[in-house]
Amino acid sequence: MSHLITGIGELVTQDDDDRVLPDAALVLDGPTIAWIGPASSAPACDSATDVGGRAVLPGWVDSHSHLVFDGDRSAEFAARMAGQAYAAGGIAVTVGATRTADDERLRQLVRQRVAVAMSQGTTTLETKTGYGLDVEHELRSARIAAGEVDEVTFLGAHLVPSAVDGITADDYVRLVCGPMLEAVRPHVQWADVFCERGAFTEEQSREVLLAARRAGLGLRVHGNQLGPGPGVRLAVELGAASVDHVNFLDDDDVDVLAASWSDPSRDGTVATVLPACDLSTRAPLAPARRLLDAGVPVALASNCNPGTSYTSSMAFCVATAVLQMHLTVAEAVRAATWGGALALGRHTGPGAVGSLTVGHRADLHVLEAPSMTHLAYRPGMPLTHSVWRAGQPVPS
Ligand code: NIG
Repeated sequence: MSHLITGIGELVTQDDDDRVLPDAALVLDGPTIAWIGPASSAPACDSATDVGGRAVLPGWVDSHSHLVFDGDRSAEFAARMAGQAYAAGGIAVTVGATRTADDERLRQLVRQRVAVAMSQGTTTLETKTGYGLDVEHELRSARIAAGEVDEVTFLGAHLVPSAVDGITADDYVRLVCGPMLEAVRPHVQWADVFCERGAFTEEQSREVLLAARRAGLGLRVHGNQLGPGPGVRLAVELGAASVDHVNFLDDDDVDVLAASWSDPSRDGTVATVLPACDLSTRAPLAPARRLLDAGVPVALASNCNPGTSYTSSMAFCVATAVLQMHLTVAEAVRAATWGGALALGRHTGPGAVGSLTVGHRADLHVLEAPSMTHLAYRPGMPLTHSVWRAGQPVPS
Protein backbone atom coordinates (compact mmCIF):
# COMPACT_ATOMS: atom_id res chain seq x y z
CA MET A 1 0.00 0.00 0.00
CA SER A 2 1.55 3.30 -1.07
CA HIS A 3 0.77 6.48 0.82
CA LEU A 4 1.52 10.02 -0.36
CA ILE A 5 2.44 12.83 2.06
CA THR A 6 1.76 16.24 0.52
CA GLY A 7 1.40 19.86 1.64
CA ILE A 8 4.88 19.79 3.24
CA GLY A 9 6.11 23.25 4.25
CA GLU A 10 9.74 22.17 4.48
CA LEU A 11 11.11 18.64 4.12
CA VAL A 12 14.24 18.21 6.25
CA THR A 13 15.81 15.10 4.78
CA GLN A 14 19.15 14.74 6.65
CA ASP A 15 20.08 12.51 3.71
CA ASP A 16 23.55 12.37 2.12
CA ASP A 17 23.11 15.82 0.63
CA ASP A 18 21.56 17.16 3.83
CA ARG A 19 18.74 18.70 1.83
CA VAL A 20 15.94 20.94 3.04
CA LEU A 21 13.33 20.84 0.28
CA PRO A 22 10.47 23.27 -0.29
CA ASP A 23 7.39 22.02 -2.19
CA ALA A 24 8.37 18.36 -1.74
CA ALA A 25 6.29 15.22 -1.36
CA LEU A 26 7.06 11.83 0.10
CA VAL A 27 5.73 8.36 -0.71
CA LEU A 28 5.65 5.61 1.91
CA ASP A 29 5.42 1.99 0.87
CA GLY A 30 4.47 0.03 3.97
CA PRO A 31 7.21 0.68 6.55
CA THR A 32 9.64 2.19 4.06
CA ILE A 33 10.24 5.50 2.28
CA ALA A 34 9.68 4.75 -1.42
CA TRP A 35 9.99 8.13 -3.14
CA ILE A 36 10.98 11.74 -2.41
CA GLY A 37 10.67 14.55 -4.92
CA PRO A 38 8.87 17.68 -6.05
CA ALA A 39 5.17 17.63 -5.16
CA SER A 40 4.37 18.48 -8.78
CA SER A 41 5.74 15.13 -9.98
CA ALA A 42 4.53 12.87 -7.16
CA PRO A 43 3.29 9.47 -8.36
CA ALA A 44 -0.31 8.31 -7.88
CA CYS A 45 -0.72 6.45 -4.58
CA ASP A 46 -3.35 4.32 -2.84
CA SER A 47 -3.99 7.00 -0.20
CA ALA A 48 -2.72 10.43 0.83
CA THR A 49 -2.24 12.81 3.79
CA ASP A 50 -1.98 16.58 3.37
CA VAL A 51 0.08 18.00 6.27
CA GLY A 52 -1.13 21.55 5.67
CA GLY A 53 2.15 23.41 5.14
CA ARG A 54 3.91 21.93 8.19
CA ALA A 55 7.58 20.98 8.31
CA VAL A 56 8.43 17.27 8.12
CA LEU A 57 11.60 15.96 9.79
CA PRO A 58 12.97 12.47 10.41
CA GLY A 59 11.81 11.18 13.80
CA TRP A 60 14.26 11.91 16.60
CA VAL A 61 16.84 9.21 17.29
CA ASP A 62 17.48 9.31 21.03
CA SER A 63 20.71 7.35 21.41
CA HIS A 64 21.19 7.70 25.19
CA SER A 65 18.56 7.06 27.86
CA HIS A 66 18.12 5.13 31.10
CA LEU A 67 14.39 4.31 31.14
CA VAL A 68 14.35 1.14 33.27
CA PHE A 69 13.90 2.51 36.75
CA ASP A 70 11.47 3.08 39.58
CA GLY A 71 11.57 5.69 42.32
CA ASP A 72 11.82 9.44 42.65
CA ARG A 73 14.91 11.60 43.18
CA SER A 74 13.31 15.03 43.10
CA ALA A 75 14.66 15.75 46.59
CA GLU A 76 18.20 15.16 45.31
CA PHE A 77 17.46 17.50 42.40
CA ALA A 78 16.12 20.19 44.76
CA ALA A 79 19.22 19.87 46.94
CA ARG A 80 21.37 20.27 43.84
CA MET A 81 19.52 23.41 42.84
CA ALA A 82 20.24 24.66 46.36
CA GLY A 83 23.96 24.21 45.79
CA GLN A 84 24.87 20.56 46.37
CA ALA A 85 27.09 18.98 43.70
CA TYR A 86 25.96 15.97 41.67
CA ALA A 87 27.56 12.74 42.85
CA ALA A 88 27.10 9.38 41.17
CA GLY A 89 26.10 7.89 44.55
CA GLY A 90 22.45 8.79 43.88
CA ILE A 91 22.38 5.87 41.45
CA ALA A 92 22.21 3.53 44.46
CA VAL A 93 18.91 5.12 45.54
CA THR A 94 17.37 4.24 42.18
CA VAL A 95 18.86 0.74 42.37
CA GLY A 96 17.01 0.16 45.65
CA ALA A 97 13.67 1.35 44.25
CA THR A 98 14.10 -0.52 40.96
CA ARG A 99 14.90 -3.85 42.59
CA THR A 100 11.75 -3.54 44.72
CA ALA A 101 9.39 -3.00 41.76
CA ASP A 102 7.73 -6.14 40.40
CA ASP A 103 8.20 -7.06 36.72
CA GLU A 104 4.83 -5.80 35.58
CA ARG A 105 5.24 -2.42 37.26
CA LEU A 106 8.72 -1.96 35.80
CA ARG A 107 7.51 -2.95 32.32
CA GLN A 108 4.60 -0.48 32.53
CA LEU A 109 6.91 2.31 33.69
CA VAL A 110 9.22 1.74 30.72
CA ARG A 111 6.28 1.46 28.31
CA GLN A 112 4.81 4.75 29.52
CA ARG A 113 8.17 6.50 29.18
CA VAL A 114 8.58 5.19 25.63
CA ALA A 115 5.05 6.36 24.76
CA VAL A 116 5.77 9.85 26.10
CA ALA A 117 9.01 10.04 24.09
CA MET A 118 7.24 8.88 20.91
CA SER A 119 4.44 11.40 21.37
CA GLN A 120 7.14 14.08 21.19
CA GLY A 121 8.63 12.81 17.93
CA THR A 122 11.15 10.18 19.07
CA THR A 123 10.91 7.16 16.79
CA THR A 124 14.15 5.35 17.69
CA LEU A 125 15.24 4.86 21.27
CA GLU A 126 18.27 3.34 22.90
CA THR A 127 18.00 2.56 26.59
CA LYS A 128 20.36 1.15 29.17
CA THR A 129 20.22 -1.24 32.07
CA GLY A 130 22.23 -0.06 35.08
CA TYR A 131 19.75 0.24 37.94
CA GLY A 132 19.78 -3.50 38.73
CA LEU A 133 23.48 -4.07 39.40
CA ASP A 134 23.20 -7.76 40.21
CA VAL A 135 22.71 -10.64 37.81
CA GLU A 136 19.00 -11.11 38.52
CA HIS A 137 18.04 -7.45 38.19
CA GLU A 138 20.32 -6.54 35.29
CA LEU A 139 18.89 -9.51 33.38
CA ARG A 140 15.35 -8.39 34.19
CA SER A 141 16.10 -4.82 33.09
CA ALA A 142 17.64 -6.02 29.82
CA ARG A 143 14.72 -8.32 29.08
CA ILE A 144 12.12 -5.64 29.77
CA ALA A 145 14.01 -3.02 27.76
CA ALA A 146 14.37 -5.37 24.80
CA GLY A 147 10.60 -5.67 24.60
CA GLU A 148 10.06 -1.90 24.48
CA VAL A 149 12.88 -0.12 22.58
CA ASP A 150 15.01 -0.47 19.44
CA GLU A 151 18.47 -0.76 21.02
CA VAL A 152 19.46 -1.97 24.48
CA THR A 153 22.76 -1.29 26.22
CA PHE A 154 24.12 -3.31 29.14
CA LEU A 155 25.34 -0.87 31.80
CA GLY A 156 26.14 -3.24 34.64
CA ALA A 157 29.24 -1.05 35.08
CA HIS A 158 27.21 1.96 36.20
CA LEU A 159 28.32 1.96 39.83
CA VAL A 160 29.88 -0.57 42.20
CA PRO A 161 26.91 -1.39 44.45
CA SER A 162 29.08 -1.53 47.55
CA ALA A 163 26.61 0.51 49.61
CA VAL A 164 23.76 -1.84 48.66
CA ASP A 165 25.48 -5.23 48.44
CA GLY A 166 28.80 -4.75 50.26
CA ILE A 167 30.69 -6.05 47.24
CA THR A 168 34.25 -4.89 46.44
CA ALA A 169 35.05 -3.18 43.15
CA ASP A 170 37.24 -6.07 41.94
CA ASP A 171 34.61 -8.69 42.71
CA TYR A 172 31.96 -6.57 41.05
CA VAL A 173 33.99 -6.10 37.84
CA ARG A 174 34.48 -9.90 37.75
CA LEU A 175 30.71 -10.35 38.13
CA VAL A 176 29.97 -7.84 35.34
CA CYS A 177 32.49 -9.40 32.94
CA GLY A 178 31.39 -12.96 33.71
CA PRO A 179 27.94 -14.13 34.81
CA MET A 180 26.17 -10.78 34.36
CA LEU A 181 27.37 -10.27 30.80
CA GLU A 182 26.53 -13.85 29.94
CA ALA A 183 23.01 -13.49 31.35
CA VAL A 184 22.12 -10.25 29.56
CA ARG A 185 23.89 -11.08 26.28
CA PRO A 186 20.81 -12.41 24.40
CA HIS A 187 18.87 -9.20 25.10
CA VAL A 188 21.36 -6.43 24.34
CA GLN A 189 23.32 -5.03 21.39
CA TRP A 190 25.70 -2.75 23.32
CA ALA A 191 27.74 -2.46 26.49
CA ASP A 192 28.59 0.78 28.26
CA VAL A 193 30.72 1.75 31.25
CA PHE A 194 30.69 4.83 33.49
CA CYS A 195 34.42 5.62 33.31
CA GLU A 196 34.72 8.34 35.93
CA ARG A 197 36.23 9.09 39.30
CA GLY A 198 33.76 7.58 41.83
CA ALA A 199 32.51 4.97 39.34
CA PHE A 200 34.97 2.83 37.30
CA THR A 201 38.68 3.42 36.77
CA GLU A 202 40.31 3.31 33.35
CA GLU A 203 41.62 -0.23 33.96
CA GLN A 204 38.27 -1.51 35.26
CA SER A 205 36.50 0.15 32.32
CA ARG A 206 38.89 -1.41 29.83
CA GLU A 207 38.31 -4.84 31.35
CA VAL A 208 34.53 -4.49 31.07
CA LEU A 209 34.65 -3.17 27.51
CA LEU A 210 37.05 -5.89 26.34
CA ALA A 211 34.84 -8.59 27.85
CA ALA A 212 31.83 -7.06 26.10
CA ARG A 213 33.71 -6.90 22.80
CA ARG A 214 34.66 -10.58 23.13
CA ALA A 215 30.96 -11.31 23.66
CA GLY A 216 30.21 -9.58 20.34
CA LEU A 217 28.66 -6.39 21.71
CA GLY A 218 29.19 -2.89 20.35
CA LEU A 219 30.78 -0.45 22.78
CA ARG A 220 29.72 2.88 24.27
CA VAL A 221 31.32 4.88 27.10
CA HIS A 222 30.11 7.44 29.65
CA GLY A 223 33.19 9.65 29.66
CA ASN A 224 34.54 12.99 30.87
CA GLN A 225 31.24 13.92 32.54
CA LEU A 226 32.31 15.01 36.02
CA GLY A 227 35.89 16.01 35.28
CA PRO A 228 38.80 15.50 32.90
CA GLY A 229 39.69 11.83 32.52
CA PRO A 230 40.54 8.87 30.33
CA GLY A 231 37.01 8.09 29.05
CA VAL A 232 37.29 9.69 25.62
CA ARG A 233 40.73 8.23 24.85
CA LEU A 234 39.65 4.77 26.04
CA ALA A 235 36.50 4.91 23.90
CA VAL A 236 38.53 5.75 20.80
CA GLU A 237 41.25 3.20 21.61
CA LEU A 238 38.67 0.40 21.79
CA GLY A 239 36.63 1.58 18.79
CA ALA A 240 33.50 2.52 20.75
CA ALA A 241 30.65 3.79 18.58
CA SER A 242 30.07 6.70 20.94
CA VAL A 243 31.45 8.48 23.97
CA ASP A 244 28.72 10.31 25.86
CA HIS A 245 28.63 13.42 28.10
CA VAL A 246 32.10 14.80 27.08
CA ASN A 247 31.82 17.88 29.30
CA PHE A 248 35.49 18.11 30.24
CA LEU A 249 37.67 17.83 27.13
CA ASP A 250 41.22 18.93 26.55
CA ASP A 251 42.73 19.57 23.11
CA ASP A 252 44.08 16.04 22.98
CA ASP A 253 40.61 14.54 23.57
CA VAL A 254 39.19 16.56 20.69
CA ASP A 255 42.10 15.63 18.41
CA VAL A 256 41.79 11.94 19.25
CA LEU A 257 38.05 12.01 18.49
CA ALA A 258 38.62 13.83 15.20
CA ALA A 259 41.43 11.42 14.22
CA SER A 260 39.10 8.46 14.80
CA TRP A 261 37.23 9.62 11.65
CA SER A 262 40.31 9.93 9.44
CA ASP A 263 40.04 6.41 7.96
CA PRO A 264 37.18 6.60 5.43
CA SER A 265 36.78 2.82 5.42
CA ARG A 266 35.41 2.71 8.97
CA ASP A 267 33.39 4.82 11.37
CA GLY A 268 35.10 6.48 14.32
CA THR A 269 33.68 7.47 17.70
CA VAL A 270 30.71 9.86 17.84
CA ALA A 271 30.63 12.48 20.60
CA THR A 272 27.17 12.40 22.17
CA VAL A 273 26.20 15.55 24.03
CA LEU A 274 23.42 15.61 26.61
CA PRO A 275 22.37 19.24 27.18
CA ALA A 276 19.41 18.50 29.46
CA CYS A 277 21.78 16.65 31.79
CA ASP A 278 24.29 19.50 31.68
CA LEU A 279 21.60 21.95 32.78
CA SER A 280 20.15 19.65 35.43
CA THR A 281 23.57 19.05 37.01
CA ARG A 282 24.77 22.62 36.43
CA ALA A 283 27.78 21.22 34.63
CA PRO A 284 29.74 23.13 32.01
CA LEU A 285 27.94 22.53 28.73
CA ALA A 286 29.64 19.97 26.51
CA PRO A 287 31.65 21.79 23.82
CA ALA A 288 29.49 20.71 20.88
CA ARG A 289 30.48 23.71 18.75
CA ARG A 290 34.18 23.00 19.21
CA LEU A 291 33.68 19.31 18.40
CA LEU A 292 31.78 20.03 15.19
CA ASP A 293 34.36 22.62 14.17
CA ALA A 294 37.08 19.99 14.68
CA GLY A 295 35.23 17.57 12.37
CA VAL A 296 33.83 15.26 15.07
CA PRO A 297 30.31 13.95 14.36
CA VAL A 298 28.03 14.95 17.23
CA ALA A 299 24.85 13.24 18.46
CA LEU A 300 22.32 14.92 20.70
CA ALA A 301 20.39 12.74 23.15
CA SER A 302 18.05 13.15 26.12
CA ASN A 303 19.84 10.98 28.72
CA CYS A 304 16.39 10.56 30.28
CA ASN A 305 17.04 9.20 33.80
CA PRO A 306 15.81 9.98 37.32
CA GLY A 307 19.10 11.44 38.57
CA THR A 308 20.60 13.85 36.10
CA SER A 309 18.11 14.44 33.29
CA TYR A 310 14.47 13.61 33.86
CA THR A 311 13.21 14.57 30.41
CA SER A 312 12.77 12.74 27.14
CA SER A 313 12.14 15.95 25.20
CA MET A 314 14.50 15.98 22.22
CA ALA A 315 12.98 19.31 21.19
CA PHE A 316 14.20 20.77 24.49
CA CYS A 317 17.67 19.33 23.77
CA VAL A 318 17.65 20.81 20.27
CA ALA A 319 16.59 24.25 21.57
CA THR A 320 19.30 24.15 24.25
CA ALA A 321 21.95 23.04 21.76
CA VAL A 322 21.06 26.04 19.60
CA LEU A 323 20.53 28.68 22.28
CA GLN A 324 23.34 27.69 24.64
CA MET A 325 25.79 25.45 22.77
CA HIS A 326 25.85 27.67 19.68
CA LEU A 327 24.81 25.10 17.10
CA THR A 328 22.70 26.25 14.19
CA VAL A 329 19.18 24.85 14.10
CA ALA A 330 20.14 22.62 11.16
CA GLU A 331 23.19 21.29 13.03
CA ALA A 332 21.18 20.55 16.17
CA VAL A 333 18.39 18.80 14.26
CA ARG A 334 21.00 16.76 12.38
CA ALA A 335 22.66 15.76 15.66
CA ALA A 336 19.28 14.67 17.09
CA THR A 337 18.39 12.55 14.05
CA TRP A 338 21.25 11.45 11.79
CA GLY A 339 23.83 11.90 14.58
CA GLY A 340 21.92 9.59 16.92
CA ALA A 341 21.56 7.03 14.12
CA LEU A 342 25.31 7.20 13.47
CA ALA A 343 25.99 6.68 17.18
CA LEU A 344 23.83 3.54 17.03
CA GLY A 345 25.20 2.30 13.69
CA ARG A 346 21.72 2.60 12.16
CA HIS A 347 22.35 5.39 9.65
CA THR A 348 22.73 3.24 6.52
CA GLY A 349 21.32 0.13 4.96
CA PRO A 350 17.77 -1.13 4.61
CA GLY A 351 15.57 0.03 7.47
CA ALA A 352 18.06 2.71 8.50
CA VAL A 353 16.76 5.61 10.57
CA GLY A 354 17.69 9.24 11.20
CA SER A 355 17.23 10.56 7.67
CA LEU A 356 14.50 10.73 5.07
CA THR A 357 16.08 8.60 2.36
CA VAL A 358 14.51 6.17 -0.09
CA GLY A 359 14.79 2.67 1.39
CA HIS A 360 15.02 3.87 4.98
CA ARG A 361 12.37 3.34 7.65
CA ALA A 362 9.46 5.74 7.24
CA ASP A 363 9.79 7.59 10.57
CA LEU A 364 8.38 11.11 10.26
CA HIS A 365 8.00 13.97 12.70
CA VAL A 366 5.47 16.53 11.50
CA LEU A 367 5.98 19.84 13.29
CA GLU A 368 3.22 22.22 14.32
CA ALA A 369 5.25 24.83 12.46
CA PRO A 370 6.27 25.59 8.87
CA SER A 371 10.03 25.18 9.45
CA MET A 372 12.51 23.51 11.81
CA THR A 373 13.72 26.95 12.91
CA HIS A 374 10.67 27.14 15.19
CA LEU A 375 12.19 24.44 17.43
CA ALA A 376 14.65 26.99 18.82
CA TYR A 377 12.70 30.14 18.01
CA ARG A 378 9.80 28.97 20.23
CA PRO A 379 11.56 26.88 22.92
CA GLY A 380 9.30 24.90 25.23
CA MET A 381 6.28 25.18 22.94
CA PRO A 382 4.42 21.98 21.98
CA LEU A 383 5.67 21.73 18.38
CA THR A 384 4.87 18.10 17.56
CA HIS A 385 1.83 17.85 15.27
CA SER A 386 2.01 14.13 14.48
CA VAL A 387 4.45 11.24 14.34
CA TRP A 388 4.80 8.29 11.97
CA ARG A 389 6.88 5.24 12.77
CA ALA A 390 7.63 2.56 10.17
CA GLY A 391 4.96 4.05 7.92
CA GLN A 392 2.21 4.02 10.54
CA PRO A 393 0.79 7.05 12.38
CA VAL A 394 1.66 6.87 16.09
CA PRO A 395 -1.59 7.24 18.09
CA SER A 396 -1.54 10.53 20.00
O1 NIG B 1 24.16 9.45 32.32
N1 NIG B 1 26.50 9.27 34.46
C1 NIG B 1 25.98 8.26 34.80
N2 NIG B 1 24.72 7.87 34.61
C2 NIG B 1 23.59 8.75 34.46
C3 NIG B 1 23.14 9.29 35.78
C4 NIG B 1 22.48 8.28 36.55
C5 NIG B 1 21.89 8.72 37.86
O2 NIG B 1 22.35 9.64 38.55
O3 NIG B 1 20.91 8.05 38.20
C6 NIG B 1 23.93 9.84 33.48
O4 NIG B 1 23.94 11.02 33.79
